[in-house]
Parts: sequence; C-alpha cells; structure tokens
Amino acid sequence: MHEVCEDLNLKRYGSQAVGNLQFVNLGGELDTPLLPAFDTHAKQGRFSELQAYTSKSYDVRANWKHIIENFLDYLHVPAIHPSLAPSSRVDDHHPSPCIGQHIAFHTNPIRPSKKNPLCELHVPSTLLCEETLFFHVLFPNCFLFTHPTHMFVVFIDPVSPDRSTERSYLLLNKQTMEKTPYPVLQGLANFYDDVNEEDIRIVEQCQEGSYGEERHNRVLLPVDKYLYAFQEMYRDAMAHSHDL
Ligand SMILES: [Fe+2]
Repeated sequence: MHEVCEDLNLKRYGSQAVGNLQFVNLGGELDTPLLPAFDTHAKQGRFSELQAYTSKSYDVRANWKHIIENFLDYLHVPAIHPSLAPSSRVDDHHPSPCIGQHIAFHTNPIRPSKKNPLCELHVPSTLLCEETLFFHVLFPNCFLFTHPTHMFVVFIDPVSPDRSTERSYLLLNKQTMEKTPYPVLQGLANFYDDVNEEDIRIVEQCQEGSYGEERHNRVLLPVDKYLYAFQEMYRDAMAHSHDL
C-alpha cells in the first residue's frame, strides 16, 4: 500500500478497523487504539462477521448534536417508543465499559414483548449476553445498538446548523440471518425503522425548542451524565476545529 500511495502521490493517513467499522484519521498516523472498550465488545460479538440486511437514509430537520443527545437520553423511551419500551425498561438500564470517545450503556434483561421481535431471533454463540441490548455513541457522529444477533448503526452527516442526514444500516449475524424466519427479520427491520422515525420526530421538536428563550443547559438527573460526557467531547473538539 505504501508503494501505491507514493506512485499516485497520495497522502498517507492512519486507519484502524474496530469490529466491522473502519476509521481513518485525517490528522495523521494512529499510534494507540481509538476505541479499546468497543473493540473488545466487537470481538466478543464477532461483529466482523455481520452481514448487511437493510439500509435507509433519513432527512432530519435538526442539528446533528440533538440527534446524539436524544440517543443518550433514554428517559424518553416509555413516552416515545411503544414497541421498544416493554423490552427496555428505564430501570433496567446500566452503564457499560467505555474508554475515550465512546459512551455506552445497556438494557438488561431484554424483556419479551409481542410488540417487537428482539426475543424471537436465532442467537448464535458469542461472548455477548443474549439478554442484553447495548447502546453506544462513537464520537462524534455515530450511534448504534448491538446484540449477539445484530447491529443497528446510524451515521449522522451534518448538512447545516438545523439539518442533518442519517444513514442507517441493519447488520445481522450470518447464523441469525439463516435460521430466523423471514417475517421475523422483516419485523426487526421495521421495528428499528419505527424507533428511528419516532426519534426523528422528537429531535425535530428539540430543534424548535432550542430557539426558545427559556432553554438552559443543566445537569438535572444522574443519567444526564451521558449527555454531559458528549457535550464535553465536542467542546474539546471545537477547540481544535471550526467544523463542528
Ligand atoms: Fe429514542
């Protein structure tokens, strides 16, 4: 690869694969692992073996940071997500290991519900617990749900201060794809699409609310620590870039 870069007069950038995600550092070479806790998680879940099942783009009338902050604030689940809430109760949320620019928590147990197919999927042998659904933010603009059977990942592209585009991908474990009935897999795709659409609707309301004079940034509840961690990350990044 080095010779190819030299022949084509291309600049050399550092890159790392974390599970099935490829990161390129435009700032130079990478000497240390970017996301060590997520890398361990990805190996335990054999994420490099996941296969693409569906993808979709969403146009969102909101700043990209509202989308991430909404994902981190799980207190909205009972009010906003009728199909997710029975399986992911607020009191069942717990912190997950995370290091660096990675924020993570999880739901345990995933409670069976007829409103979603999370407990109907064929579970392959991995080191991840089938009763746990993980939630991750990889700074700055990626959030994802992970489980031994699948991953639902969303990348957010800022378009303007009040507009973003989301690119979502549902990835399945190969055994899960082969051994789970097709209607259940389609139900899973529809479930994540519904959840994401529900989130987009309230994020767009947050964008409108952000113009209000009574808006304040405060840590009000213990779970606000996830939002605070994300806000600290982009405050720190803004010291080095004007692109955020
Ligand atoms: Fe949500």
